[in-house]
Amino acid sequence: MLDELKKEWAEVVEKETGIPAEEVFSYFEKPKKEEMGDVALPCFKLAKQIKEDVKNFAERLKNTFSTVPFISSAEVVGGYLNLRIERASFTQKLLKKVLEEGENYGSSKEGDGKTVLIDFSSPNIAKPFGVGHLRSTVLGAALGRILQFLGYKVIGINYLGDWGAQVAKMMVAYQKWFDKSDKEKDTIKKLYELYVRFHKEEEENPHLAQEADKVLKSLEECEKKSLELWREFIEISMAEFRRIYEILGVDFDEFAGESMCDEKGAPRCIERMDSVIKELAEKRLLTEGEGGALIVEFDQKEKIPPLMMRKSDGTTLYATREVAVALERWRKYKFDRMLYVVGVPQKLHFQQVFRLFEMAGYPFAGRCEHIAFGHYLGMSTRRGTMVLLEEVLNELIEKARKVIEEKNPELLKVEDPNKVAKDVAVGALIFNDLKNERIKDVVYDEERFLSFDGETGPYLQYAHTRLCGILRKWGKSLPREFDAKLLSSDEEWRLVMNLSEFSRTVKNAAEHREPSRIANYLIECASNLNLFYQRHRVLCEENNLTNARISLVAALRIVLAKGLELLGIKPLERM
Ligand code: ARG
Repeated sequence: MLDELKKEWAEVVEKETGIPAEEVFSYFEKPKKEEMGDVALPCFKLAKQIKEDVKNFAERLKNTFSTVPFISSAEVVGGYLNLRIERASFTQKLLKKVLEEGENYGSSKEGDGKTVLIDFSSPNIAKPFGVGHLRSTVLGAALGRILQFLGYKVIGINYLGDWGAQVAKMMVAYQKWFDKSDKEKDTIKKLYELYVRFHKEEEENPHLAQEADKVLKSLEECEKKSLELWREFIEISMAEFRRIYEILGVDFDEFAGESMCDEKGAPRCIERMDSVIKELAEKRLLTEGEGGALIVEFDQKEKIPPLMMRKSDGTTLYATREVAVALERWRKYKFDRMLYVVGVPQKLHFQQVFRLFEMAGYPFAGRCEHIAFGHYLGMSTRRGTMVLLEEVLNELIEKARKVIEEKNPELLKVEDPNKVAKDVAVGALIFNDLKNERIKDVVYDEERFLSFDGETGPYLQYAHTRLCGILRKWGKSLPREFDAKLLSSDEEWRLVMNLSEFSRTVKNAAEHREPSRIANYLIECASNLNLFYQRHRVLCEENNLTNARISLVAALRIVLAKGLELLGIKPLERM
């Protein structure tokens, strides 16, 4: 709601000075210090634009603002116009709005009619689910929810790495060494062992690599037996991935991997890649490299290394499939944006592919974004080179259970402790990932992120349960009327300002593809809540005051719950 006010104020400035409201709007900021006011307008650039002295300019606006609704005072300090909001009327209006709109408060229609594809998680069938895939999953799912909340139609695609040389290697290993006796048991471990064993034996036994080449060829030639084995192998790996997604609470609209298989499970990537190669050749974008390989060369000035589209032995690559899949997605969805949520190490790959899209004149060339993220530190080394994620998750859940049982033994009577433990563990993991800008590395440190204090998931979940606890104790439906004048303290005002900033925060998170904006916003709300509890009681002797404060509490609960949900963290009633 603060944004709406700012828009009105920007129009006031436009009327007074002729500078477009949109531009003025972008200048409003939060004053450096709370005592200075609620909103500040730096006047330097604006005054310069109309060649007026800053002081005059600011003073002129000050006079105008003294009669504008919702403003209690305007002051000029060193080139800034500091505005103070009329607390009671603003609070009254805002709380009413939040309580009325409930779950939808903060949502918008900006994305109506627009489709965003999000390519995320996308593990490789031939390898264990890595920590990079974990980050992609958490980040991609959060971005999807955020964009959906803003009205976009979001299509989440899991682009499984289910084709190519690595898959062929695993199939050789699977055929040779997989123990099918006890199908259900420890599949993920068994697959992991295959992976390790193949790569070890491959060094001593060059035959293995040759066998894998043969398998790949037979796959690319759609040989029936090979395809059957391939499907079986994919099913087994997928079942493992699905369990992880279930724990994390993540869904996809499509599992559409590199093989581009159709409903019957027949891969179409070969034929599609052939036509890509043909098309690129017709557009004269391919050059013949060593031994007949086909490559795309970029303009010298761009300093982008060449991109191989076909190897000399005729087999295709990750990049070839990337192009074929993008074309297919465009045919199917005519998307407005396509986000690839993939780690920083693939930066060059996307740079090359996106540039190729441009060179080929594809209509979606300007609509693609690589949503890069940093590394995960401290987890991948725990068990050899790759983690068995499910094991880590289960350990985490166990730890969370112990922490909760210690803190709140009463809980066992009203909630299923396993479920709560799972929600806390997963929330902790997700928050630890999303609290920093995505490009930064994440450090896996259970002790820290499972703690109830500090900037953690459990801290936020706890803040939410505390609000729920107050509302339970109140036990009635919310008062229809309340007097916002009674919420006059600085602690209450800070919370009101937080509430008013929610929509802007969600928008920012979407625009910058940065769920961390919401994560940090929630931390601020939670710490302002703590300051509030230190000074004030919600349920007190005075009825009118209680009515006003319980309304504030209910509004904060709505926003906290929604913020957590957008990140993928369960807002718990109790913990
Ligand atoms: N499977 C790939 C990997 O693990 C990630 C795929 C990302 N998506 C894409 N369209 N390239 O490295």
